Amino acid sequence: MFGVPGRRIVEERLSGLREELGIDFCAVNGENAADGDHVGPRIADKLLASGADVITLGNHVWRRAEIGPYLAESERTIRPANLSSNSPGRGWTVAPAADGTPVAVVNLLGHLFIDSPVGPFEVVDELVDQARNRAKVVLVDFHAEATSEKVALARWLDGRVTAVVGTHTHVQTNDARVLPGGTAAISDAGMTGPHDSVIGVQADLAIARMRTGMPVRFKPAEGGVRLEGAVIECDGDGRASSCEPVRVEE
Ligand SMILES: [Fe+2]
Repeated sequence: MFGVPGRRIVEERLSGLREELGIDFCAVNGENAADGDHVGPRIADKLLASGADVITLGNHVWRRAEIGPYLAESERTIRPANLSSNSPGRGWTVAPAADGTPVAVVNLLGHLFIDSPVGPFEVVDELVDQARNRAKVVLVDFHAEATSEKVALARWLDGRVTAVVGTHTHVQTNDARVLPGGTAAISDAGMTGPHDSVIGVQADLAIARMRTGMPVRFKPAEGGVRLEGAVIECDGDGRASSCEPVRVEE
């Protein structure tokens, strides 16, 4: 989710949508919740109060240092697991769904075009083993740029996790599916925020930077606000039975 418009539609619509669709658990990628490029403790707490059970982050995690001490303490806001082992915070967590079922959420950063400190495939097997020791339902937020890497990770984890949901590119992909082993997957859940934009940023500013190669200060756009995501149904063993994209206009 992206900037003030994204936060506004989450605050206004997420609780009602959870009720309407019978959602037991909700994870939100919040790395761009503040000004479209970071998140701080106050906004993270607000998101958790607005219907998110867990907040995941991504490549913008350290844009503001203030998040470090917060992540060191937080059990509900996690950062990618494959960052430096010397950085604060946790890369996965377990939180209860509405009916008490434990749900593990694992946050990973892609390697292609992002250059994560540690490759996701180096750490994912051990992370999934650890998560499965604590919960049968396991959701992986794979924050990555390349669809090839996202599809590959989903295939690699098929049958071992409930879902692999891609974030980071802000454009919802048309590939929501359940893989043969029972893992739900979508390459990108989309963007909750202003779609009259270039992935959230005022279009003229993004275009000016691309046309000139010169520094341009980005500002979040405001129009065309949508809430986007994916709804996954699974059984008590964590096997997915459906995966559907969600798109709600403001
Ligand atoms: Fe990102």
